[in-house]
Amino acid sequence: MKGVVARQKGAPVTLETIVVPDPGPGEARVRVRACGVCHTDLHYREGAINDDFPFLLGHEAAGVVESVGDGVDDLSPGDAVVLNWRAVCGTCRACRRGRPWYCFATHNARQPMTLEDGTPLAPALGIGAFCEQTLVAAGQCTRVDARARPEAVGLLGCGVMAGLGAAMWTGGVGLGDSVAVFGCGGVGCAAIAGARLAGATRIIAVDLDPAKLAVARALGATDVVDASREDPVEAIRALTGGNGADVCIEAVGNPKVFEQAFYARDLAGVVVQVGVPDPSMRIELPMIDLFGRGGSIRSSWYGDCLPSRDFPVLVDLYLQGRLDLDRFVTETIGLDEVESAFEAMRQGRVLRSVVVLEG
Ligand SMILES: NC(=O)c1ccc[n+]([C@@H]2O[C@H](COP(=O)([O-])OP(=O)(O)OC[C@H]3O[C@@H](n4cnc5c(N)ncnc54)[C@H](O)[C@@H]3O)[C@@H](O)[C@H]2O)c1
Ligand SMILES: [Zn+2]
Ligand SMILES: [Zn+2]
Repeated sequence: MKGVVARQKGAPVTLETIVVPDPGPGEARVRVRACGVCHTDLHYREGAINDDFPFLLGHEAAGVVESVGDGVDDLSPGDAVVLNWRAVCGTCRACRRGRPWYCFATHNARQPMTLEDGTPLAPALGIGAFCEQTLVAAGQCTRVDARARPEAVGLLGCGVMAGLGAAMWTGGVGLGDSVAVFGCGGVGCAAIAGARLAGATRIIAVDLDPAKLAVARALGATDVVDASREDPVEAIRALTGGNGADVCIEAVGNPKVFEQAFYARDLAGVVVQVGVPDPSMRIELPMIDLFGRGGSIRSSWYGDCLPSRDFPVLVDLYLQGRLDLDRFVTETIGLDEVESAFEAMRQGRVLRSVVVLEG
């Protein structure tokens, strides 16, 4: 199979021949139809995740089950699936307490995919879907309605789900809430769409880039704030009767933006941190403000989603025209264009570039 590999830290990715084993017990082999390019793929290539090179990149994917191993009885060849990186174990301490979205022992395929010379590959987030086919744990496949466009629904596999869930699950946005979303890339725009689905009546989008704010409006923002021109904390207070928003979502990964989200929140409100900070970042807050303003600060990994519960519902909402996943697909590209998609991402030109595979 042809696949996109990051061989060494910082080097451009290359298209390689990948050996994909037949599925063993509990595994499934999936023909990939579409896979989005996520920041995390670039982080792998830059050595910012770990040093387990070579990596097989790609992890926001939809495809069709090709074959399944022994003991897999809830998937069949031909099933349309969205891949996930939260195949829950059912037995760890989080799962046993009925909170499987925190599962500490999620499943991946046991057998490695390799280069032709037998070198094992580390698949990004245990998926590795910039490849014609990939091998995953069966639980990483969530069956969805086959009529859905793979390049749109595959995005539920990571960033778009992270944003939707940051609003719907982590932030607990409800009917009539006010929500402010800081950073309107793929994740922040999905948080805006999630806030709308959850019934928020005022949704304030904050970004430095007017083009991003226009997309945010199309996805449901009722108000936009250009943080390069005005103080977002003041602007959000002014839009919420002087109080601040019930839920503030940080979708950049920046300590200054976190602080803005913290102070733009109403008393007893919720701050959700979904943007990923780098390890050098620090925040400093007067402890009295943490105490005196009440409410909570919550981090959101993958939007606290449970793929088996959430993906089929979100795909149905997409098919009904109530969740505009198509708007996240800025461009479709070939397997050989991942490196230029990283450049488009760096320049902020896209919400998502999506690799589409033939056949
Ligand atoms: N928690 C999770 O599970 C999870 C999953 C996927 C991605 N993420 C993270 O979410 C973050 C956003 O991802 P993305 O794909 O949307 O990235 P992106 O780069 O496409 O979007 C970031 C947006 O923030 C804006 N921005 C930058 N500085 C700003 C500032 N000071 N004020 C307001 N806006 C500002 C940019 O203009 C851009 O529109 C990243 O840190 C990513 O790693 C988290
Ligand atoms: Zn578990
Ligand atoms: Zn991702």
